[in-house]
Amino acid sequence: MNQTRRKRRTDPSLSRLESLSPEMLFPTKSPALISARVRNIFLLLTICVIVCILFSYGTFRREKISSIARSLSVFSTRRRHLLFSIAASHDSWLRRSSYVRLWYTPESTRAVVFLDRGGFDPDLSLPQVIVSKDVSRFPYNFPGGLRSAIRVARVVKETVDRGDKDVRWFVFGDDDTVFFVDNLVTVLSKYDHRKWYYVGSNSEFYDQNVRYSFDMAFGGGGFAISASLGKVLAKVLDSCLMRYSHMYGSDSRIFSCLAELGVTLTHEPGFHQIDVRGNLFGLLCAHPLSPLVSLHHLDAVDPFFPKMNRTESVARLIGAASLDSARILQQSVCYDSSNTVTVSVVWGYAVQVYEGNKLLPDLLTLQKTFSTWRRGSGVQSNYMFSTREYPRDPCGRPLVFFLDSVGPDGAEGTWSSYNLHSVGNCHRAEAVKRLQYIRVLSRKLERNVEQVYTPCFSVYYI
Ligand SMILES: *[C@@H]1O[C@H](CO)[C@@H](O)[C@H](O)[C@H]1NC(C)=O
Repeated sequence: MNQTRRKRRTDPSLSRLESLSPEMLFPTKSPALISARVRNIFLLLTICVIVCILFSYGTFRREKISSIARSLSVFSTRRRHLLFSIAASHDSWLRRSSYVRLWYTPESTRAVVFLDRGGFDPDLSLPQVIVSKDVSRFPYNFPGGLRSAIRVARVVKETVDRGDKDVRWFVFGDDDTVFFVDNLVTVLSKYDHRKWYYVGSNSEFYDQNVRYSFDMAFGGGGFAISASLGKVLAKVLDSCLMRYSHMYGSDSRIFSCLAELGVTLTHEPGFHQIDVRGNLFGLLCAHPLSPLVSLHHLDAVDPFFPKMNRTESVARLIGAASLDSARILQQSVCYDSSNTVTVSVVWGYAVQVYEGNKLLPDLLTLQKTFSTWRRGSGVQSNYMFSTREYPRDPCGRPLVFFLDSVGPDGAEGTWSSYNLHSVGNCHRAEAVKRLQYIRVLSRKLERNVEQVYTPCFSVYYI
């Protein structure tokens, strides 16, 4: 932005240069004119410097300027362009609002919460609470399902109908979803909000996608609808809902009504429905090369960090993200030339130290530390990604260090320190057996729009 401003400012000065030139050619001896001449020389020098800067920008940074210009015209989406709608219920809100409090900031996040009934005192650290309109006129006949699916689907219409100004994206999620707002802004800025977009992700659990659709955004993981699409969807939603009374959830209703408009899902891997249970370690340690956007089902999974409850764990992750949002959960693997250790850093969360050098593709697959979403003996663990077994014997696992603290390192970087998670007396190689904590220094990860399209995995040789 600065560069563009600088460019504009030079035009008037350049025209002044032309009008000054004759005076430079015919100097007089009057003291007033001499001081004017000094001023003119100074001006000329300044202009030269500006022209030089522009020239060097033009030569070496043309690409950057064009990408900035591109982002200025259409793609530059900011936090304030997003309106979050959180679907909650009176019974869940009191407890789960502690998750929302972690990612919502009253100054810079626009959000509203929809409840089935009110009765809460206003809380300025939380989004405004709205009681959903009555939906009893809509049919619902999924056996054993919950009628609230209709209310939650209609949150889309009620949100759009509010008519809030300057909204580019309507974002929907549950009260047990946490969003990484800056990363969501980065992801959405790839798309033109004036066109029709439905952005989200499906389930980690293959069978869930078979049952619903591979192209449905699962509601808890959150999804975004561009403003132009939102306006059209809001108009047709009520009549559309009448046709889908046989469906189970709110997200299938939205998916179906969007299908009728000819819109399919734009998959973004940073949204996480988290249709798994238990220990998420393996999943968090092999995050796709894409900004982390959301995590859902927080009550169904163990706390992310040892000796912490769920809220504290999420707070630690979000705290790290506040220092380097783009890098949170991004994996870097370091090899040492003497082949004694391989270090996998999952920034802001954990470091794993393997003895010997491990092959990179093996480190990128998910360790199956979690269990299936659906319980029961017949349930197969079919996932949407490659997995590897997590050794039952803790001594067969790499050394694991969890994030302890993180802070700024100069203006451009961060330090983060990770403490050993002790699992008892294992025989470890000499090179690693005394490791107690690991400190990671890194530069802030700045992705421009092109890099979001083609992310780059980090491998270091030490
Ligand atoms: C989690 O721990 C924090 C700090 O110890 C505490 O204030 C909070 O009530 C705990 N939350 C739950 C749900 O136990």
